[in-house]
Amino acid sequence: MKKLLAFGAFVALLAVTGCQEKKEVSKDVVSFDEVLTTRRSVRSYDASKKISEAEVRELLTATQEAPSWANQQPTKYYVAISPDKVAAVQDMVGGNKDRIKEAPVLIVSTFERGKSGFFQGNQTNEVGDGWGAYDNGLSNCYLILKARAMGFDTLIMGMRDTDALRKLFNIPDNETVMAAIALGYRAGEPTRPERRPLDDIAKFY
Ligand SMILES: Cc1cc2nc3c(=O)[nH]c(=O)nc-3n(C[C@H](O)[C@H](O)[C@H](O)COP(=O)(O)O)c2cc1C
Repeated sequence: MKKLLAFGAFVALLAVTGCQEKKEVSKDVVSFDEVLTTRRSVRSYDASKKISEAEVRELLTATQEAPSWANQQPTKYYVAISPDKVAAVQDMVGGNKDRIKEAPVLIVSTFERGKSGFFQGNQTNEVGDGWGAYDNGLSNCYLILKARAMGFDTLIMGMRDTDALRKLFNIPDNETVMAAIALGYRAGEPTRPERRPLDDIAKFY
């Protein structure tokens, strides 16, 4: 009987430790408020620190929790993580090149037009495909905040060469290319740009 109990305990222990090992989710390193206040647009990256595909997958999985118009999920991501693709994208971000040259991962974000803001093919209101851009921004917001929670840094780049990126990643015509996003580790401490006073941007009635 004793032997049987010991064997049972051993199996239970294996099951527990086995589950823990399988779980690939990384431990967030900062609280949510710290995520908000320490996230910055980083324009200088630490060349010695790499990011794995598994980590990028975890990051992009977090973006899938973002809300979207009628759950259309129009956002797509094209991830440059191999050295040749990263080098290619570096040449497609104009004046941002020097800022992101040591970032190990560069991500291009698009959205599929005609989904968010539409019902049965008809535009629902005056915003039209603007809702696709809205959903894309929400998704990107999840990305940059989750990145910070994982200890990474990002730079959203609106300055980028749409045609070159479309060609590099075979991005279909029905997708609008939005931001390129650099992902890496900060090389130094970035400064926080001033924010407008709250009463300039919020009115209470
Ligand atoms: C849509 C968008 C496009 C941006 N494009 C660039 C860019 O091309 N290059 C750059 O250095 N920063 C770019 N930024 C970063 C902003 O300059 C930055 O978010 C702003 O100055 C506030 O700084 P913070 O992000 O550190 O809070 C962009 C940000 C957004 C949201």
